[in-house]
Amino acid sequence: MVMSYQVIARKWRPQTFEDVVGQPAAAQTLRNAILQNRIAHAYLFAGARGVGKTTTARIVAKALNCVQGPTITPCNVCDSCQEITAGNSIDVLEIDAASNRGIDEIRELRENVKYAAARDRYKIFIIDEVHMLTTEAFNALLKTLEEPPPHVVFVLATTELHKVPATVLSRCQHFNFRAISHKEIFDRLSYIASQEQVQISHESLNVIARAAEGSMRDAQSLLDQVISFCGNEVDDEQVRNLLGIIPQQLLEGFTQAIIETDPKQILLMVDQVVQSGRNLQHFVREMLSHFRNLLLVKIAGEDDQLIPLSSMDLARLKELAGHFSEEDLVRFFTILVTTEGELRWSSQPRFHLEMGLMKILQAKRLIPIEELVAGLAELTDAEKGLDSPTKEASQSTRSSSTSKFTANLGPKIRSQPQVTAGPDAPSSNLTERLKSAIAQRSPMVSSLMDHAHDVQLMEAGIEVQFTNQNRFYYEMLQSAENLEMIKELADSIVGRPQRVKVVLINAPFQQTSLPNEKPSQNPSKSQLLDRVKSDSNVKKFLDAFQGEITDVKELK
Ligand SMILES: Nc1ncnc2c1ncn2[C@@H]1O[C@H](COP(=O)(O)OP(=O)(O)O)[C@@H](O)[C@H]1O
Ligand SMILES: [Mg+2]
Ligand SMILES: [Zn+2]
Repeated sequence: MVMSYQVIARKWRPQTFEDVVGQPAAAQTLRNAILQNRIAHAYLFAGARGVGKTTTARIVAKALNCVQGPTITPCNVCDSCQEITAGNSIDVLEIDAASNRGIDEIRELRENVKYAAARDRYKIFIIDEVHMLTTEAFNALLKTLEEPPPHVVFVLATTELHKVPATVLSRCQHFNFRAISHKEIFDRLSYIASQEQVQISHESLNVIARAAEGSMRDAQSLLDQVISFCGNEVDDEQVRNLLGIIPQQLLEGFTQAIIETDPKQILLMVDQVVQSGRNLQHFVREMLSHFRNLLLVKIAGEDDQLIPLSSMDLARLKELAGHFSEEDLVRFFTILVTTEGELRWSSQPRFHLEMGLMKILQAKRLIPIEELVAGLAELTDAEKGLDSPTKEASQSTRSSSTSKFTANLGPKIRSQPQVTAGPDAPSSNLTERLKSAIAQRSPMVSSLMDHAHDVQLMEAGIEVQFTNQNRFYYEMLQSAENLEMIKELADSIVGRPQRVKVVLINAPFQQTSLPNEKPSQNPSKSQLLDRVKSDSNVKKFLDAFQGEITDVKELK
């Protein structure tokens, strides 16, 4: 006996409108047109790959040419139907524009168009990836579309609608084929697996459906791969390995580390991900869908169908989600989206990933603005002759208090110390030039430098100073590559070879003497500092913003 194996995607190609999943609008409109005998001369099906364009085109062809047709329920047993299914009907021509881009094919097509259907009612041309045609071929096609003989129907399909000339578009009835939802893919896979007598867990079906990203064809090809690898009893672990899926555990591990604000653990886990040779962009996408899931559990509860996970995972997710507010999760998501974008072009994806995750840790410390406003309202009433940063900050807080968003006030205050000693003017100019040169060369290094306490140009060279609080950035900046880059830029800006040092300093208390100050009238810095520190409002303020006092000065 000869065993023939037909790939799932082909074997399970829908043969009727009813079986096409997830395209109700297109299916319904086409059915109505057939019922009312108002067939257009040209249709354009636009949508991602594997969502049913070719499938639907063939069903339309059968609906028109079935011996019982035109009918919305082609019989699928007559010669005409069977030939169309097999792809060898002489009256239904499929042209793949991706491989036949030329004018010759379209000329031939135009010749062909003139002749009536050999046997069936209609001559149907299905042109796949129509956007790939050359301009000449488009023009030739256009002529045909302008005066189509009555027995001809064109079905054009494209994955890139924006590349189809408007002149062609305007002559077609246009349908958008949407991506297939996770649930629709899951259900279809589940159905196919049971028909094929394949034992596969919900977990694995979920993993496959998720990896397919809206393409039914991809989902079915993946299922094929999995079956040919595992046989008829599919093992979850093997599926994950086969598809390079990040284990749920690892994602949860990261979440736990975020909950515990444990940067070291996060860096260790990033290392683990890197060592295992996983694609970091893929990893970030998995993190994104993980945080989306957390948000969904939070909003919709654990039994929601929207979440592509098993119920066991859901319970765990719910527990994790309990540690975050919705705002937190949205913010993390946004940070990861940015990170994913950065990874795309980065030559150092690992750095970006690490930075992204550190940003999440920082974002976690943000306090909803309503809370801040409530806590600070009292502060503004109490002005004790001390014009501390309190006033300025609470005013800016108040001005945006109607917004529901949160403000990243903590770091802002840290990076804008109230009074900085700053290097003297000329060297500070050079510092600024250096900073902007770095920003142009590497946004990454530049953003590390943004966390520096100070950048000083000294006789001996350049010193980038970090306080212990920003130790992470200090360590990130240390790489030989970064130092070399800074040195190269500094050399050319200063005009002679510079030594570059990145150092950790104790958060300094700077002895400043601003020109407009009259030192003789002022209490000493340490007296002032004591006064400020003992002020209960200042304490509250520092707590709220997680701030620190870098300097004080007496105002007149
Ligand atoms: N909407 C859908 N419903 C059910 N199966 C689908 C659907 N879309 C695609 N498939 C499956 O994927 C395979 C390829 O689909 P196809 O129609 O060729 O996609 P494309 O949109 O790229 O033309 C089909 O044989 C079928 O098994
Ligand atoms: Mg196709
Ligand atoms: Zn038929």
